[in-house]
Amino acid sequence: MVTIAVFASGYGSNLQAIIDAIESKQLDARIAIVFSDKKEAFALERAKKHSIPTLYLSAKEFPSREEHEKKIIEHLDPLGVELIVLAGYMRILSPYIIGRYPLRIINIHPALLPSFPGTHGIKDAFDYGVKYTGVTVHFVDEGVDTGPIIAQEVVRIDDNDTLETLELKIHAIEHRLYPQVIQWYSENRIRVDGRKVRIVSP
Ligand code: GRF
Repeated sequence: MVTIAVFASGYGSNLQAIIDAIESKQLDARIAIVFSDKKEAFALERAKKHSIPTLYLSAKEFPSREEHEKKIIEHLDPLGVELIVLAGYMRILSPYIIGRYPLRIINIHPALLPSFPGTHGIKDAFDYGVKYTGVTVHFVDEGVDTGPIIAQEVVRIDDNDTLETLELKIHAIEHRLYPQVIQWYSENRIRVDGRKVRIVSP
């Protein structure tokens, strides 16, 4: 069992996939809190529907990124949060929080990193015309989408794919892969050696 905090800024379909995996006992985790920097994030509604505590703190109310994160961490620490799961969290984390949770923050990105980092991974890959794209789950370091890669899955872009059909394919994989990686974390099966991450047998 791993105690997690999920950070989300928007729709929260990955949060929903994590909740569903926990409820169907495929994932041995407990969501201690769902945090959002956006008041209107649908992710917060999803959490409330499942009686998961929520926290909303706008970054605008703090003088710096660090102050914002300090306040978030004040809420996380007493809850015994072991892993921070970014699920559509649209802010770049500062070295402060990364230092406080070293190799304990993960992110999901809708492309095969290091290709197409940033906010529009699906569209950027589609517009570029690559034949294969995919999903990456990685540890968060101080760069943008640069941390050690834990898992990747490939999606083929067919001639008849549109951006919309590609988005559906990508999200379907995300919703399966992210709970899987959290389960590996929960089972203490993730080994990190520099940039190389291995998943060891249970
Ligand atoms: C996902 O595509 C994820 O890869 C990216 O942001 C999106 C979040 O979607 N980081 P949702 O809010 O989980 O529906």
